[in-house]
Amino acid sequence: MTRVPVLAANWKMFKTTHETLAYMRELGVLVKTLDGGEVEVVVAPPFPSLVTAAEAARNTGVGVAAQNVYFEREGAFTGEVSAAMIKEAGAGYVIVGHSERRRLFGDTDQAVSRKLRAAISAELVPIACIGETLEEREAGKTDDVLDRQIRDGFAGLAPAEVAALIVAYEPVWAIGTGKNATPAEAADAHHHIRTRLGEWFGRETADQCRILYGGSVKPDNVAALTALPDVDGALVGGASLDVASFFKIVTGGLAARPK
Ligand code: PGA
Repeated sequence: MTRVPVLAANWKMFKTTHETLAYMRELGVLVKTLDGGEVEVVVAPPFPSLVTAAEAARNTGVGVAAQNVYFEREGAFTGEVSAAMIKEAGAGYVIVGHSERRRLFGDTDQAVSRKLRAAISAELVPIACIGETLEEREAGKTDDVLDRQIRDGFAGLAPAEVAALIVAYEPVWAIGTGKNATPAEAADAHHHIRTRLGEWFGRETADQCRILYGGSVKPDNVAALTALPDVDGALVGGASLDVASFFKIVTGGLAARPK
């Protein structure tokens, strides 16, 4: 089963619209130089820059993601943004359940499940984030936490919907810390996730679903991670803010993919 790799930039709360435009123009030119091989390169800017990013990305092969979505269609939900609004802004993807959303803004697995369903209904590809904290890892609970996040977060999704979404395994202790998971740790977690997807949604679903690694991915460590058979790309925070650094991650990640 060949899965199209995904290299995604999660800017978090960085960059103005003006800065977004400059970055997207530069990235578009760089991505055009990639020869052969299918890849999805995705950038997730803050909400106010979605339209600008999507317009700049047109015809470049770069995709655009929102960093969050609210699950209701519309209503009195001050400060929230619906999936249809994101779609109309020109994005094709949305990050759901990032650990910062879970930790700082109270996103539960139940909220993640509703957000995933809202995203899928609006024909957005979700990038569903899961991962354990340091405390959970040290207590030997990594697999249990991943199981709960998948079981409750993906509740009610059809196998074909799970096959089409993107999972991002992001150990919380590796995010923004400069301490990435070792290839062995990532291999174990990714294998566990794919096995569970197979048990709960079927072998074919598990074979199709892309699982990205996230957490302190840098140009010099991406190859060791994307070389793993169950790692289908990366979700990159800090090292994606500089376009040259992100493009190095794209090329380094692609070159290391198992043939
Ligand atoms: P990081 O963030 O690359 O800065 O660790 C990854 C993420 O939060 O998606």
